[in-house]
Amino acid sequence: MRLTIAIDGPAAAGKGTLSRELARAFDLAHLDTGLIYRATGRRTLDGTGALEAAQTLTAADLEADDLRTPDVARAASVVAAIPEVRAALVDFQRAFARRQGGAVLDGRDIGTVICPEAEMKFFVTASDEVRAERRFVELKEGGHDVTFDTVLADLRERDARDSARATAPLKPAEDAEVLDTSEMDIDAVVATAIAMVTARTGLKPVA
Ligand code: DC
Repeated sequence: MRLTIAIDGPAAAGKGTLSRELARAFDLAHLDTGLIYRATGRRTLDGTGALEAAQTLTAADLEADDLRTPDVARAASVVAAIPEVRAALVDFQRAFARRQGGAVLDGRDIGTVICPEAEMKFFVTASDEVRAERRFVELKEGGHDVTFDTVLADLRERDARDSARATAPLKPAEDAEVLDTSEMDIDAVVATAIAMVTARTGLKPVA
């Protein structure tokens, strides 16, 4: 089976949780493509050039324990606007998407650029304030010293850069199902998405 589920959307909209839950429900592999950009951006903070960082990325880089910090998120968004960096990361993502057994990928350009042929596409979004609140709570729980206003400003700045860039900007694919999670709890979002996958593909959840 070569089912690909593409999940795109802005920061902290709920893509990560939805992706993991769909992968579990349909027994698919999962790739958080944001991690690839974060690992690339992380290496630039140590002085490596962005393109070199993307071209020589290793599995170990994806396991660094500080990829979820606000500084790394910003660096990821900056390197992600460089077309050559994106080009260097395409093959790995496409191979993952078409692997035997099926895959869920989440990011910004999965349904539009990486896997335009994906059988199922979602665009997950929520209001700026709701997303900032979720990220604020996550960062606080992770021991980061942040304020809500800084988190909101960072998130808006990153979304603006991710949406305005010339190459593979953040936007819904024409055939994506849009899920606005502002007023829905995550269980409802997951249940809705599972029902949509079943309706589209005939696959029943296994977990
Ligand atoms: O999903 P995330 O917040 O971990 O992503 C970090 C940054 O990486 C995001 O601001 C933009 C970039 N990114 C991208 O350009 N394309 C993707 N498919 C995934 C992430």
